[in-house]
Amino acid sequence: MALLLLLLVLTVSAVSADEDAFVGVNIGTDLSDMPHPTQVVALLKAQQIRHVRLYNADRGMLLALANTGIKVAISIPNEQLLGIGQSNSTAANWVSQNVVAHYPATNITTICVGSEVLTALPNAARVLVSALKFIQSALVASNLDKQIKVSTPLASSIILDSFPPSQAFFNHSWNPVLIPMLNFLQSTGSYFMINVYPYFDYMQSNGVIPLDYTLLKPLPSNKEAVDANTLLHYSNVFDAMVDAAYFAMAYLNFTNIPVMVTETGWPSKGDSNEPDATLDNANTYNSNLIKHVLNNTGTPRHPGISVSTYIYELYNEDTKPGPVSEKNWGLFDANGVPVYILHLTGSGSVLANDTANQTFCTAKDGADAKMLQAALDWACGPGKVDCSPLLQGQACYEPDNIFAHATYAFNTYYHQMGRTPGSCDFNGVATITTTNPSHGSCIYLGSGDKNGTLLNSTIPAMDSKSSYSPAKFVYGNVFSAAAYIVVGVIGWIAVLL
Ligand SMILES: *[C@@H]1O[C@H](CO)[C@@H](O)[C@H](O)[C@H]1NC(C)=O
Ligand SMILES: *[C@@H]1O[C@H](CO)[C@@H](O)[C@H](O)[C@H]1NC(C)=O
Ligand SMILES: *[C@@H]1O[C@H](CO)[C@@H](O)[C@H](O)[C@H]1NC(C)=O
Ligand SMILES: *[C@@H]1O[C@H](CO)[C@@H](O)[C@H](O)[C@H]1NC(C)=O
Ligand SMILES: *[C@@H]1O[C@H](CO)[C@@H](O)[C@H](O)[C@H]1NC(C)=O
Ligand SMILES: *[C@@H]1O[C@H](CO)[C@@H](O)[C@H](O)[C@H]1NC(C)=O
Ligand SMILES: *[C@@H]1O[C@H](CO)[C@@H](O)[C@H](O)[C@H]1NC(C)=O
Ligand SMILES: *[C@@H]1O[C@H](CO)[C@@H](O)[C@H](O)[C@H]1NC(C)=O
Ligand SMILES: *[C@@H]1O[C@H](CO)[C@@H](O)[C@H](O)[C@H]1NC(C)=O
Repeated sequence: MALLLLLLVLTVSAVSADEDAFVGVNIGTDLSDMPHPTQVVALLKAQQIRHVRLYNADRGMLLALANTGIKVAISIPNEQLLGIGQSNSTAANWVSQNVVAHYPATNITTICVGSEVLTALPNAARVLVSALKFIQSALVASNLDKQIKVSTPLASSIILDSFPPSQAFFNHSWNPVLIPMLNFLQSTGSYFMINVYPYFDYMQSNGVIPLDYTLLKPLPSNKEAVDANTLLHYSNVFDAMVDAAYFAMAYLNFTNIPVMVTETGWPSKGDSNEPDATLDNANTYNSNLIKHVLNNTGTPRHPGISVSTYIYELYNEDTKPGPVSEKNWGLFDANGVPVYILHLTGSGSVLANDTANQTFCTAKDGADAKMLQAALDWACGPGKVDCSPLLQGQACYEPDNIFAHATYAFNTYYHQMGRTPGSCDFNGVATITTTNPSHGSCIYLGSGDKNGTLLNSTIPAMDSKSSYSPAKFVYGNVFSAAAYIVVGVIGWIAVLL
């Protein structure tokens, strides 16, 4: 057993950590008054959403997304899968109409071939791998295979026994599809795509899984679930499900395919028998999820390995059939008004409550103090921010710490620059927030007054030529055997009792 564990541990480092994780948003279109593509894109820009996934390859959306810098995952709907999986030329035509016609103006990064095919459309499973291969060869023929990844989002229900994660395995009846699929993903350097819904696991567990554990709330370590086989500690269902996918792949000897979560979220409203579909829970889940993903924390099995994730979903889809919750997974209503305001202070430059058009620039939680100091020095020097309110006795001196002072200087610079993209970055230690950092008599620029916006830009942009250029954050693979030396096995069940 110990040897087996050691082998599992050693194979872990095979998944590479060369990219930072991103959070994107799925765009479902089952709305009675679906906004026009230009309105959708205006919302994405206002909310600083930089990654989206479409459930089709709608021409209007792809045109509206052109030259926006937004990265786009497009999809082959299940209805088109049989045709594409049976005909190389149908696949080639699909790629030429929906990809080649739009790239590179529209930055298509990913093609999702079908959606939960094994569980939603089992009779198309037999053509799934050929569809993947045909689409890939059409990309190769167009010289786009390096830029665009091909995969297929699967339902997490194909993974059995996912708790504890080390025991997870794929439903064997799908092995004849999954093994060639994993070979394809491995040989093309693509992702294993999985839809992860802790909400449903929680609902189905009849109170066995604690709510805090599904909502990614911080847990005291004695409440964490411990996988007795690996001694890995789990503090939330999301990580456990992602690791279950890694273990299920490892069980089939695939250890170097990164996981991407193509859907996850929480409904903000439900029927009387869905009491946990609430605004508060939806907000807590999505806010915690975004912070967790953007922190590049990875999972217990693959610490530091990014797990890019698409939230389900942008809009509430009022014409979706089923229970009330089905219509209420969205972050926004059809008018682009936020359903709730995410608590993202200091964590992400995705999603802002722009209805008041108030955004602020703040130092990132956990940013390195030396880098903050260097950025503060730059802002108050070459950046031409008036930092006199930070002097002793002045309005913004208290609290006298580097985080508060840097936030004041970053925010002032950001507003002096007219809130242009890139003016709230400071080599990665700053981020945009909708939370007004003003306190007492220390009023931050952007606090609802007309002052401070759109000043003359004689202010230099902060770029590599300036005197200030510390190294970018390097998130290493912090995996180490030490993580396995845990005193006392509480047992997986401990958290469930
Ligand atoms: C598309 O996005 C990728 C990933 O961020 C980036 O590397 C690439 O330069 C972008 N391509 C275009 C054409 O903008
Ligand atoms: C499919 O078409 C591509 C060109 O789009 C070609 O390179 C490839 O060999 C074809 N594959 C098969 C199995 O016919
Ligand atoms: C495994 O998949 C088969 C085929 O879809 C299905 O009939 C069976 O119920 C699944 N097994 C479990 C335990 O979910
Ligand atoms: C995985 O690899 C081991 C060792 O090479 C082998 O014994 C086992 O049969 C393989 N399992 C599968 C599912 O291929
Ligand atoms: C962010 O990651 C660091 C280590 O990389 C960790 O110490 C910290 O707890 C994480 N924060 C959150 C909110 O996950
Ligand atoms: C957005 O923020 C503004 C100002 O803080 C607030 O008045 C408004 O209610 C917020 N929008 C929503 C939907 O909560
Ligand atoms: C929000 O503010 C920016 C810059 O201050 C301005 O360009 C933009 O037009 C404003 N948007 C709305 C909807 O008021
Ligand atoms: C705008 O700036 C002027 C001069 O700096 C100041 O007197 C005034 O109080 C400011 N207005 C608000 C609403 O803060
Ligand atoms: C911009 O600069 C010009 C010339 O220096 C000046 O007249 C104008 O008032 C400035 N505008 C603002 C918003 O500061």
